Amino acid sequence: MRILGIESSCDETGVAIYDGEKGLLSNLLYSQASIHAEFGGVVPELASRDHIRKTLPMIRQALEESGSSPDDISAIAYTRGPGLVGALMVGSSIAKSLAMAWDIPSIAVHHMEGHLVASMLEKDAPQYPFIALLVSGGHTQLLSTSGLGEYRMLGESLDDAAGEAFDKAAKMLGLGYPGGPEIARLAETGDTGRFRFPRPMTDRPGLDFSFSGLKTYTMNCIERLGPLSEQDKADVATAFQEAVVDTITIKCKRAIKETRLNQLVIAGGVSANLRLRDELGEMVSKNNTRIFYPQLKFCTDNGAMIAYAGYLKLQLGHEDDLAINVKPRWPMEDLTGATSK
Ligand code: KG4
Ligand code: ZN
Repeated sequence: MRILGIESSCDETGVAIYDGEKGLLSNLLYSQASIHAEFGGVVPELASRDHIRKTLPMIRQALEESGSSPDDISAIAYTRGPGLVGALMVGSSIAKSLAMAWDIPSIAVHHMEGHLVASMLEKDAPQYPFIALLVSGGHTQLLSTSGLGEYRMLGESLDDAAGEAFDKAAKMLGLGYPGGPEIARLAETGDTGRFRFPRPMTDRPGLDFSFSGLKTYTMNCIERLGPLSEQDKADVATAFQEAVVDTITIKCKRAIKETRLNQLVIAGGVSANLRLRDELGEMVSKNNTRIFYPQLKFCTDNGAMIAYAGYLKLQLGHEDDLAINVKPRWPMEDLTGATSK
């Protein structure tokens, strides 16, 4: 079984080919980051246009690289949502057109389910049931899962996602986009003792998150400092990162206690943050829990996670109608019970 996967939910075009026996045969990624950088965030119209330019040539390259002809492809998986509507429509239209032309099934994948299964591309993969922390530019969610397509939301962000907060804090500091890696880099030279930023919603029970207050706190701190020296910037970046990392770690610890599950999977762009990995790693080892993450290259958006999710869904007998629409908003719990047709 060989699956072609297409990711186009935001500003990355990802195309991959996953083979049930041989594993990942091709994984191509094109980032539009430089196109959006001057705007300090993703411009939806530019994103759609660029996906149109890149997707078909990348599919051709992936077929060549993997030594596949269209006859070797069993199904095409694509990101149905959540994401930018125009960007999603490009990937889904191409996927469905090719599926029709090649007379093979198309499989609609939930972007966050893709992120989640990216951790299972490794040999040492988590076993269901487990807790998943999904932290990306659009989502911050803690959930428990008992199998593919079976999700119970434990908590989520009431406002900004963690990645979005990183991006906004970076913008305040005059750093580039995406902001997460920039803050992480700057924080390496910051003084952890200079500022202490709040850990939002950790002083009350529950597993929800809120990062907008932290954003305002960061803004106020920057305004108070006046013109920023390089050291000021590094110290603010450090204080911000420590606050996000601590907040997430406190909530994950609670989730472990509440669910009594002993495996934690972290995925999504922010799971590439090494401080977060360190602190979560330390916390889980004190709580008899194992932690799993995707390889760094599979943390941020990519086609491999979509191809692999498509493979897992096809194995369960799932395929989708060509007439379905994209879903820019798509709560993950809606998947529950819907995976096997
Ligand atoms: O999963 P992803 O590639 O796209 C979405 O589905 O949103 O996540 C992108 C987000 C961005 O907000 C980016 O700033 C953040 O992940 N990010 C990081 C790091 N690398 C990417 N945040 C913190 N530390 C990082 N090392
Ligand atoms: Zn993503």
